[in-house]
Amino acid sequence: MVAACEEPPSASPVPQAGARWYDAEQVQQGSTVFLQHCATCHGEQAQGLVADWRQKLDDGFFPPPPLNGTAHAWHHPRSVLLQVINEGGLEFGGRMPAFGAVLTETDKLAAIAYFQNFWDDEIYANWQQMGGSN
Ligand code: HEC
Repeated sequence: MVAACEEPPSASPVPQAGARWYDAEQVQQGSTVFLQHCATCHGEQAQGLVADWRQKLDDGFFPPPPLNGTAHAWHHPRSVLLQVINEGGLEFGGRMPAFGAVLTETDKLAAIAYFQNFWDDEIYANWQQMGGSN
């Protein structure tokens, strides 16, 4: 029976919402952290502030990229995202400030939860393939 081998139309290869490493409380806490420390550069909904984050600004620096899943934050496992937040971009010629001594570990993770909550399930699944919460 050929029909039996076909995927039902509702079948989806991506995990169900809710199967994420963080919970609603962390997203809530993260929104406070993010709005206070990150939103001036990355946008209140982590959408970024420029039309094209790949285009250098007039001063030669790259703009802060969106973190809402439309740029490439999902290429980095959580440990690398944490590292960027801790060390900032100065060491590799960028200008994101370092938050290592500014935020608690809990606040940093909450900030990640906040912007990851804008990722759809497909982006989240791709991120898991790239290392995810490792
Ligand atoms: C002064 C502006 C500024 C602030 C404030 C800021 N960032 Fe950034 N961020 C940047 C820039 C610019 C980059 C690109 C790398 C660089 O140039 O340093 C970046 C890169 C990143 C990346 C890597 C994204 C990727 O696609 O690889 C992450 C994650 C990130 N920021 C998270 C945060 C979080 C979380 C906060 C708040 C705790 C924050 N940033 C605050 C400017 C900022």
